[in-house]
Parts: sequence; C-alpha cells; structure tokens
Amino acid sequence: MSRTLDILLFGPPGAGKGTQAAALAARHGIPHVSTGDLFRKNLKEQTPVGLVARGFMDRGLLVPDEIVCDMVRLRLEEDEAAAGSLLDGFPRTLPQADALEGMLRRLGRRIDHVLFFDAEDEVLVERIAGRLSCSGCGAAFHRTFAPPRTQGVCDHCGRNGLSVRSDDNAETVGARLLEYRAKTTPLLARWQGSDTLHVINAGRPIAEVERALALAVPARAEA
Ligand code: AP5
Ligand code: MG
Repeated sequence: MSRTLDILLFGPPGAGKGTQAAALAARHGIPHVSTGDLFRKNLKEQTPVGLVARGFMDRGLLVPDEIVCDMVRLRLEEDEAAAGSLLDGFPRTLPQADALEGMLRRLGRRIDHVLFFDAEDEVLVERIAGRLSCSGCGAAFHRTFAPPRTQGVCDHCGRNGLSVRSDDNAETVGARLLEYRAKTTPLLARWQGSDTLHVINAGRPIAEVERALALAVPARAEA
C-alpha cells in the first residue's frame, strides 16, 4: 500500500469538482489544493500573483503555466501536503502535467488517481449559471440543486456573504469551455487505458457522484 496519495480532480468548469473536494480530501486525510481557490485568495490579498491572474481569469483564460506551476510547487512542499494531495483544477495543460510529474517524482511520489468529471455542456452551463460561492471559504452552492440551509449564509463557515463569482457570466463561461476543450482535454490521452483514470459520470445528483468517487478510490484502510 502506498504511504502517500496524490489524486487529481480533472474535468470541465462547473462539473462539480469543488463540491466534492473537501469531503473527499478529508476522507483520505490529504489537503485540498485548488488552483482556482489559490488564485482567488491571492486576488483578495492583492498579491502580485493575484493581480496578474485576474487579467486572465476575468476573460476566462488560463493563467500562464509558469505562474500556476510555481504556486502549486510551493503548496506541495508544505508539510501539510507531505502525505499527498487532492489537486483540483491542476494540471490543465500538457506542460503543467509534465511539471507536476516532475514535482511529485522529486518528492518520491506519483499521480495515483485521476478522477475525470464527465458532464455535458448544457449541464455545466446550468450549474455555473446558478452557482453561489462563499467569499470566506470558497464553498459552492447552487440556487436550485444545492441551496444553503439559510439563504445567503454559508453552511460551512457561517459567513453571511454568498455571491456570484466574478467569472461566472455568460461570456466568460463560453471562453472557459473553449480553453478547456483546446488545452485541457488533450491531457486525457495521457491517462487513457491506464488504471489511474476513473471516468465519473458527473451529470448525476451530488450524492450519487459522491458514491461513485468513494467506489473509485476507497479510503486507504478499506483498500
Ligand atoms: P477554477 O476555480 O478551477 O474554475 P473551473 O475549473 O472553471 O471550475 P469551477 O470551479 O467553475 O467548477 P467546479 O468543477 O469546481 O464546480 P463546482 O463544484 O463549483 O478556475 C477559475 C480560473 O482560474 C480559470 O478559469 C483560470 O483562469 C484560473 N485557473 C485555475 N486553475 C488553473 C490552472 N491549472 N491553469 C491555468 N489557469 C488556472 O460546482 C458548480 C455548481 O454546480 C455549483 O453551484 C454546485 O453547487 C453545483 N453542483 C455541483 N455538483 C453538482 C451535481 N452533481 N448536481 C447538481 N449541481 C451540482
Ligand atoms: Mg471549482
């Protein structure tokens, strides 16, 4: 049994990666590393990385590889990630995948599982159009499919401030889907046909997707 565990959540915008990530990471005792969340944190703190990233995020474009890879490398070198990581939204390009493999190799690790969240474009657009995000902890809700228990209040951190993400608008969503098709889907070929890849039908309700993920990657004690 591997002593470390590195899992990738891979898939288009709005597929539900972030929704599943926290519980999945907790289940496996590894930190949730979302590059989108890291950029939004940098943006909130007005760091140089955040200010550069904003120009790309606001247009639905991918942030340049070098910036993303440096940010992830620093995160993976933290003690908290010594036992592994749940990478959400990284890698998204072939150079990012090469860089990740190099980072993990230097740490004596490898990608153990790629969970591909597969969903139709209409599902993605409907989910993004109804998404509400917590400005405190980043948790995602949906006006129809996953409303908060109390309107406007985050179930997870209790903050009163659910809002629409600045890149969740019709124009940017189109650009994000195009970027995904052009730059991210080619990555699938790298894992196709290997035991590492698990294709998850992410078009189903949240609880069903959660069950499919648990079956794909059983908790280590159960493995
Ligand atoms: P990022 O934050 O990663 O956004 P994304 O990949 O576009 O994905 P989303 O966060 O939109 O979707 P998700 O799959 O997490 O869905 P969620 O769980 O929220 O990236 C933002 C930007 O940062 C990028 O555009 C880029 O500019 C930059 N960036 C980030 N990483 C980068 C990288 N590696 N390289 C370069 N640039 C990078 O769910 C969506 C909605 O659906 C929610 O409302 C939720 O409640 C609902 N929902 C979830 N699951 C279900 C379900 N099963 N049934 C019904 N509703 C559901
Ligand atoms: Mg997300």
